[in-house]
Amino acid sequence: MIIAVDGPAASGKGTVARALAEHFGLPWLDTGLLYRAVGISVVRADRDPRKPEDALAACDFPEALLDDPELRSEAAGKYASFVSAHPAVREALVDRQRVFANQPGGAVLDGRDIGTVIAPDADAKLFVTASAEARADRRYKDELRSSADADLAAILADIEDRDRRDSERANAPLKRADDADLLDTTNLTISAAVQRAIALVEART
Ligand code: C5P
Repeated sequence: MIIAVDGPAASGKGTVARALAEHFGLPWLDTGLLYRAVGISVVRADRDPRKPEDALAACDFPEALLDDPELRSEAAGKYASFVSAHPAVREALVDRQRVFANQPGGAVLDGRDIGTVIAPDADAKLFVTASAEARADRRYKDELRSSADADLAAILADIEDRDRRDSERANAPLKRADDADLLDTTNLTISAAVQRAIALVEART
């Protein structure tokens, strides 16, 4: 069983994907980490993530980099959204993701183009979304835990920028697959969103 989970930043797709993996006993790949790893590698090499040739040179990163805590930072998310717009970078990362998706027994993958490009034949597809304000508020509350000077307006502007870059790029843009179920988490608690996701997957499989 392959479950594809797509959606914008801070929509809750990672939380939903992890919970689905646990519930159905499947391995889970957060594909955003691959793009984050490329972005961080480019910047650490003093190169420019906006330049296709610099980004492509970083696509051969070691798997160990996926555990690097810096990958979770807002900065890494932003570098990821620059490198992910280059078609050659996406191409270089496709095989890794398809091999993971097609392993015996199945898998859960979350990202932006899982249901449209990586696993168009997935058994269940969810498009997880929430209003930009709700997503910014979640990030803001997260950041307040580690820093007193989190800035809600700046976080909202970053989220809107990232949405725009991800939705407007020519190659594999963020887009709901025609056969994906929509899960709007704006007014849902985490546990309500997870229950709803499980029900949607069960109805498809
Ligand atoms: O999901 P996450 O916020 O970690 O993704 C970081 C960035 O990586 C996204 O904003 C997007 O630009 C890119 N990405 C992508 N395709 C995916 C996963 C992530 O383009 N399948």
